[in-house]
Amino acid sequence: MEATEMLMSEHRIVEGFIGTLERAADKLDQKQTIRPGFFTDAADFSKGFTDGCHHRKEEGYLFPALVRHGLSDTSSLVAVLLEEHEQSRRLIKAMRLAAQQWQDGDTKAMPIVLENARSYVSLLKQHIQKEDGVLFPLSERTLPLDEQATLAQDFERVEEEEVGAGVHEKYLGLANTLKKEVF
Ligand SMILES: [Fe+2]
Ligand SMILES: [Fe+2]
Repeated sequence: MEATEMLMSEHRIVEGFIGTLERAADKLDQKQTIRPGFFTDAADFSKGFTDGCHHRKEEGYLFPALVRHGLSDTSSLVAVLLEEHEQSRRLIKAMRLAAQQWQDGDTKAMPIVLENARSYVSLLKQHIQKEDGVLFPLSERTLPLDEQATLAQDFERVEEEEVGAGVHEKYLGLANTLKKEVF
């Protein structure tokens, strides 16, 4: 599988999770039953899969390859995407913290969970559209084929050595469990 195809197939998994989180946020908004631990579990998925498996490949390999081929790392699309990754981490951290406070009995933290969950959902939706629609076509035009092949090998190595065996699958299982909880 080509490097950009690998990232795109991970986007489909992240989108599935985003749909689940959006549904959970709607339930919270409509005062339907949803446990605070749902949102700490969702933060675990985001940290473990979206950051740990996916952003790791983009930040560690794809973005630097594009910068080597002339995209500026301070004033370009790459800079915007990196800042969105940072923003997504801030939102998830804030969502996790508020969910823990809610779990400890502070119901005033519930709207903070909702606000951060919804901001994360809308940020990630447009981020993925930008990467699928602009960044990946640009990558395929910009990077020589041999470098694209090397990237695909790097991504496989990231999964085996940095992420670790079975971790990717563990998070797919978590996404599935969370989906079943709200749909
Ligand atoms: Fe990204
Ligand atoms: Fe991505």
